Order: sequence, then C-alpha cells, then structure tokens
Amino acid sequence: MDGSMEPGLLLIPGPVPLPPQVREELAKAAMPHYGDAWVKAHAETREMLRYAWSAPDAHVFPIAGPGHAALEAIGYTFLRPGDRIVVVSNGFFGDRTHEVLLTHRVKADLVSSAWGSAPDFTALRTALKTPAKAVVVVHNETSTGVTNALEPIVEAAHTADAFVIVDAVSSLGGLPLPFAKLGIDAGFTASQKCIAAPAGIAPVAVSRSLWESTDPKSVEGWYLNLFTWDRYEREWGDWHPTPTTISSNLFYAFHRALKLLRDEGLEARFARHAKVAGRLRDGLAELGFKPVGPPAILSNTVSCFAPPPGVDAARLVRRLKDEHNIYISGGLGPLRGKTIRIGTMGTQADPETIDWLLKAVRASL
Ligand SMILES: Cc1ncc(COP(=O)(O)O)c(C=O)c1O
Repeated sequence: MDGSMEPGLLLIPGPVPLPPQVREELAKAAMPHYGDAWVKAHAETREMLRYAWSAPDAHVFPIAGPGHAALEAIGYTFLRPGDRIVVVSNGFFGDRTHEVLLTHRVKADLVSSAWGSAPDFTALRTALKTPAKAVVVVHNETSTGVTNALEPIVEAAHTADAFVIVDAVSSLGGLPLPFAKLGIDAGFTASQKCIAAPAGIAPVAVSRSLWESTDPKSVEGWYLNLFTWDRYEREWGDWHPTPTTISSNLFYAFHRALKLLRDEGLEARFARHAKVAGRLRDGLAELGFKPVGPPAILSNTVSCFAPPPGVDAARLVRRLKDEHNIYISGGLGPLRGKTIRIGTMGTQADPETIDWLLKAVRASL
C-alpha cells in the first residue's frame, strides 16, 4: 500500500484514490487555460478519450463539471421539449436519469425492472412500438452493482429508429464499452471513477451520425450546448480550444490519468478490474455476504452485497471507517441500511487493497 491511500482507504464507488502521478499535477502551480501547452494537452486528451471510448471518429468533449453536467449537455443538445424518450431503469441512477431528463420537458417514459435485476428488454421493445427519439440507459448501475447488457438495448432502439444515450459513469475505463462497435450514439462518464482522476471533468462522446443529423441552430443554451464546445475547438483551436476557464490543475491531472489508462491498455485494464472484482466477490461470499444481483450480471467495478444475517450493514460501514480507516458505502434508496457497496475502479482494482479490506471486514463482523 503506498501513500496515495492516505489518510483513509477510499473504497467507495468513486471518487477513487488518485495515483501519485495524478496527485503531482494537482500540487503544481496554476497555469493558463490557453496557449501552446494547453492546446497540446487538450488535443492529446481528446485523442485519449477516443481511445477510452473505443470510438476513433466520435466527437469527444471533456466538459468541466460532474457527470450530471454531461448528461444535461447531451439532453440540451440532442433532445427537444415534447420529444418522447424511453429511459431504461433498474436502479437509483436509472431513476435519476429519468428525473433529470423530465426537467428538459421531454416525455420520458420509464421502463423499470426490479433493482438488482437485468433491464426488462421485452418491456423496452413494447415501449418502442410507440415512436421515440431516444433510449437512455445506465451501463453500470452503481446502486446495485449490476452491469446492463447494451447490445439488446441498442438493437431495440435502432430497430425503432431511436438513438441511444449511455451513462458510462461507473464503467468507462473499467468495463468493456466499445462505443463505435455497439453503435452507441451518445455517452458520458465522469473523471472520478474508473479513469482515476479528480472529480470535475465529464467526458462526452457523440457519434458522427447523431452529430451530423442535429441542427446546431435548434439548440438552446450556451455552456451545456455541445456545439459551443465544438465551435471553440474549430475557431479558437490554435490557442483556446475550450469555451471557458477550466482549472489547469484539474485538467492536467485528468490528462495524466488518461495517459496512465492508455499506457496500461484497455484490455489489460478490463482484465485487472475483472480479476480484482472476482477476488472481492469470492471473499465476501466466503464471509456469508450475498450479492444483490444474479451472478451473470454482477459488475466488475462496483459490488453491492447484503451482509450475513445478524450483521447490520450501516454499522459495518461505520466500523470499517472508525476502526480500520476504510471508506465503503451503504445502500441507496430501498437498499439503504440493507447493503454495502464497494468500488473496484481504477486504483481500487488492486488485489492487495482488496485483501486488506476483506481482512478488515472479517474483523468487523
Ligand atoms: C451511474 C452513475 N451515473 C451518474 C452519476 C453521477 O455522477 P456525478 O456525481 O459526477 O454527477 C453517478 C455517480 O455516482 C453514477 O454512478
């Protein structure tokens, strides 16, 4: 365990501990958010984002803000008041997406299934018998530790002429997500999860076909209008490619985290996440914990487990913090007080870290 884990071991489902190289960037003097160094870092960041999304010709934007800012940017840029959309939900973040997009004055129909279960693909196909502009889905449901299969959702959506928006907040960089191959139209993530950067950058990816079929004049707003970001890249790209001031420390830290991701390579990174999550699941099962979801769809980035009978989940979370200086999370919504949630994203996906956690859990039961 190195100093990057001080002062407590952060095993919540994001933010994650920062690698030392990323922390170094945060400690540097502030730099301008324009000029040659910025233009170079910005271009490299966009290239590395295309790699992370496996989307060589997508439009990518490192929006400054949390993951929700990216969701709203996609909403404002590609949806219009009155559009009918279908939101697939099997957990807190699916429901949250629905709540957010309703405020964009779209008609957002919810296709729900029980928390912890797979999406209801049959109900989705039925919902798409009525024309819809888009289908929205969370790839990895952070509230239940379940990964949603995207292929059947993209297929159902495209068959019905709807485009697909994917929340990849707790998956990009940790779980396979071949954006271009799957035919995803718009996706977003957040820097503080599998990319292992500080919170504050929300990368967006948009397919060429969705981009080219959208009339920029039909988009309202400025900051969360992706055409504004595009215009700055095109018109001010040689000196000031982002529309507003972005913290240079944050941006360079994000850029450094992406370099670590690229140097490791996506396949190796996915394999590391899978291996460590498997080790965590096995260790928890041995201690009598039960996953919320069925084995086939358990996530390799977030684990959500109910403790064995007689163990209070909230008390366990507190004891790990107070007695072992380890932060994990409790359940959300109906799972509050009933489950624990543990991240194995980015730096968290480390076998020694997980062994240390399991030892502490054993001692806290
Ligand atoms: C699946 C998912 N979507 C969206 C979000 C929201 O991200 P942010 O807090 O960066 O807006 C989260 C945060 O945990 C998440 O896990």
